[in-house]
Amino acid sequence: MNKITAAITAVGAYVPDDILTNKMLEKMVDTNEEWIVSRTGIKERRILKDPSKGTSYLAIMAAQNLIDKKNIDPKEIDLVILATVSPDMPVAATAVHVATEIGATNAFAYDLQAACSGFLYGMSTASAYIESGRYKKVLVIGADKMSSIIDYTDRTTCIIFGDGAGAALFEPNYEGLGFQDEILRSDGIGRKSLRIEAGGSLLPPTEDTVAKKLHYVTQDGKTVFKYAVSNMADVSEQIMKRNNLTNKNVNWLVAHQANQRIVSATSNRMKLEDEKVLMNIERYGNTTSATLPLLLNDFESKLKKGDNIIFATFGGGFTWGSIYLKWAYNS
Ligand code: COA
Repeated sequence: MNKITAAITAVGAYVPDDILTNKMLEKMVDTNEEWIVSRTGIKERRILKDPSKGTSYLAIMAAQNLIDKKNIDPKEIDLVILATVSPDMPVAATAVHVATEIGATNAFAYDLQAACSGFLYGMSTASAYIESGRYKKVLVIGADKMSSIIDYTDRTTCIIFGDGAGAALFEPNYEGLGFQDEILRSDGIGRKSLRIEAGGSLLPPTEDTVAKKLHYVTQDGKTVFKYAVSNMADVSEQIMKRNNLTNKNVNWLVAHQANQRIVSATSNRMKLEDEKVLMNIERYGNTTSATLPLLLNDFESKLKKGDNIIFATFGGGFTWGSIYLKWAYNS
């Protein structure tokens, strides 16, 4: 039997209907359309307005979309990994609720928190489980209701983030397609520059933490930008070199949609033409854990069996990395 590789065999996604445009943000904070588009590339984002629904709703909808498209029996799923920074609750894991709701009753499930690199790290874990032969169907979901942790009076964050979810199914492949290589990194220095300060064990919630708005995402955008630009480009270049890839045989860059300029810095270093760089930041903003699978779902019809794809992310923590994967199917 040929070596087992871990291939993505299906994708799905969900974004809520409500749209938050740059013009609407102009009425909420001191900003303007021109600034937002030129600095970030974002035109609008989706917001899950229903206060009774959390991140699990987004994740369930994305997973259900995948299950319906692929027509799989959810009982065959072995493991559900949910990458998120906005779980329904600190305890119990949102993934467990999601797995039960989608009918994956034979699966075990857990949440994975690595900010904007959560889905990428989840891809790594899923691939290792598949390659080892231990499991046959691993569902990785990236979902975030960022609007629940964003301060809509803070112009340095509220223009960036949006809500959404995407999912990918990993299964064994015997033709050498799927996961090929990874470079994953992290650096605790990032904890100072991008975080939610309160609500964890270090600073539990009090009236004071709420009054000081310490339960929202804050960031030093300039510092995050600086680290993101160099680190995401570095690992993408390294993974190309050690797999003898060039701009000629890389078909697609699937990069975290943090900021159009950050993605451009990576694609420039890879010397990739714009047509090979999948982008949807203009429609969704930064959806944190959801950006990679949302890209895969939006551009699924363009991806062809055998295509060489470089994934790249950078996120809070800091966490970052790159994965080289060969696409395994034509849709
Ligand atoms: N609208 C208008 N002006 C704004 C603004 C907004 N929403 N936010 C900041 N500004 C102002 C600043 O106050 C500053 O004004 P000043 O020069 O008078 O001091 C000016 O615009 C430039 O701000 P700066 O922070 O230097 O802008 P920038 O070019 O670095 O862009 C980000 C800001 C946030 C878009 C950019 O730093 C970024 O994308 N960082 C990474 C963020 C990220 O990806 N986070 C998620 C991690 S994956």
